[in-house]
Amino acid sequence: MSGFDFDTPVDRHASGSYKWDDTPDSKIIPMWVADMDFRTAPVVIEALRKRVEHGVFGYTLVDDSYYDSLTTWFNTRHGYRFDRKQVIYTSGVVPALSAIIKALAPEGSKVALQTPVYNCFFSSVRNNGCIIADAPLKRVDTGAEAFTYLMDFDALERVCSDENVKLMLLCNPHNPAGRCWTRNELEKVAEITHRHGVRVVSDEIHCELTMPGHRYIPYATVDPEAIVCVSPSKAFNTAGLQIANIICPDADIRKAVDKAININEVCDVNPFGPVALKASYSNEGKEWLEALKKYLWHNWVYLKETLNRRLPKCKIAVLEATYLPWIDVSSITDNSSLLEQKLKQEAKVWINSGDMYGQKGYIRINIACPRSSLAEGLDRLCNYLEKL
Ligand SMILES: Cc1ncc(COP(=O)(O)O)c(C=O)c1O
Repeated sequence: MSGFDFDTPVDRHASGSYKWDDTPDSKIIPMWVADMDFRTAPVVIEALRKRVEHGVFGYTLVDDSYYDSLTTWFNTRHGYRFDRKQVIYTSGVVPALSAIIKALAPEGSKVALQTPVYNCFFSSVRNNGCIIADAPLKRVDTGAEAFTYLMDFDALERVCSDENVKLMLLCNPHNPAGRCWTRNELEKVAEITHRHGVRVVSDEIHCELTMPGHRYIPYATVDPEAIVCVSPSKAFNTAGLQIANIICPDADIRKAVDKAININEVCDVNPFGPVALKASYSNEGKEWLEALKKYLWHNWVYLKETLNRRLPKCKIAVLEATYLPWIDVSSITDNSSLLEQKLKQEAKVWINSGDMYGQKGYIRINIACPRSSLAEGLDRLCNYLEKL
């Protein structure tokens, strides 16, 4: 027992939750968008409470203690050293990716990525007038019930050898493939991209959420020229507080990215984001995070056992990181969008269709919820799929 309670459900209805309130049907169990149904760490709640009680919420100065917390956390926990001067704070990783693309990839140029991948990678490339250059991941079956993904380095080599490819968006660890990339794999990415003059932008928002036996390797430790985006928001369930960081070692590029962020005058952050970040990146935050990771691991084991038993036709991607298992339902249907709708309407469980991530015939399930809710959600899913 950790002393932290992840079991008691928190009623999120009518809390302005995108995940829970964006539907008229309150009976639906939402297992889609990537936030967790747990309260954040007590240390974060307490820090926010103090800030609320202060009662004045004027424009926010991000002070030295913020940068101390950030740099100390990554240095001591992950062996990732960087100087505070390299950091640009911003309101989210997706706005960060968009600003970096705007700054570094001229309209009409290409941006490499590896599908299936987080849907906003597609939109941030397209919305900046750029073209997607896909080096799809390679699926490899690892047994009767499981599969995993490897990087296709030949495909990456081909994509990067196109001189119109200026940037690569790397997802490390990878959503939705569930991979926690190894140092060898990341070194190979660095070698290929450097040879072709492609700059890597590494989205490391899921970096804390590794499963036992897997270790997050900060991409910048193999490629010091990379631009890295991080946020405590996935691990501490604070996405709505909107705080993230870009770590960009090159001063000229940093200036260009900063300009792209400021172009629409949306540079300021709200007063709660920095407070939450500092409390998260603390000893008490770490203790809570370790307990959370154990809980998520048990949820993952529960999901595997349940689906292997009840839906043996559906293989599951090995989950090395994130709380977002990725399931192959192609033996039942390739039309996973329709399946998403049907599951929502008829089974009252809401998952994400693989189409969103560039792969039909798959679904993504968010398991960051109390075990009772996971059990009920999976039961609804299995009851429905068993009949098809
Ligand atoms: C890989 C990845 N990047 C970014 C985000 C969202 O980042 P933010 O909320 O900071 O914009 C998500 C959310 O699920 C994600 O999975």
